Amino acid sequence: MSLCLSDITLTYPDGDTRLTALDRVTLEVPRGSLTAVVGPSGSGKSSLLAVAATLITPDTGTVTVDGTRTTGLSRGELTELRRSRIGIVFQQPNLLPSLTAAEQLQVMAHIDGRSPARARARALALLDAVGLAGQAGRRPHQLSGGQRQR
Ligand SMILES: Nc1ncnc2c1ncn2[C@@H]1O[C@H](COP(=O)(O)OP(=O)(O)OP(=O)(O)O)[C@@H](O)[C@H]1O
Ligand SMILES: [Mg+2]
Repeated sequence: MSLCLSDITLTYPDGDTRLTALDRVTLEVPRGSLTAVVGPSGSGKSSLLAVAATLITPDTGTVTVDGTRTTGLSRGELTELRRSRIGIVFQQPNLLPSLTAAEQLQVMAHIDGRSPARARARALALLDAVGLAGQAGRRPHQLSGGQRQR
């Protein structure tokens, strides 16, 4: 996946005025590369990630995911884009209590109508990659905090 943020400005309401969280940010992340966003608390990292993930629409600027310009897409189209292209690991894991570790990973593929067998194989491979092959059948309450986050 490639990502391009161009001239992004994001403001939040702040009493009578507005607080500028992102001030004309431009960022290009080529396919296959890894980018870390670092900075002091309150500098706008989470705001930047929320805009990049199309969860927040910026005041100005464009977000392009895999060559698709997201400006002007409907809410439904954005949901579909996120479902198929974007993975978000929140600090607070949003796991479904009744699903096993493997099922948590299969659920989006299921909603997206992809092959259950392939989704299962991919889920098990991903769990194995982070050392959780032995925990595939466990539910969130049976996992440690770190295991849940992985
Ligand atoms: N929903 C909101 N409404 C108003 N102001 C907000 C909102 N969310 C964030 N802010 C403000 O925007 C600025 C950037 O916040 P953001 O959460 O992006 O920072 P951050 O770099 O992720 O910080 P941290 O490292 O503490 O997580 C901060 O000044 C914050 O107070
Ligand atoms: Mg943050």
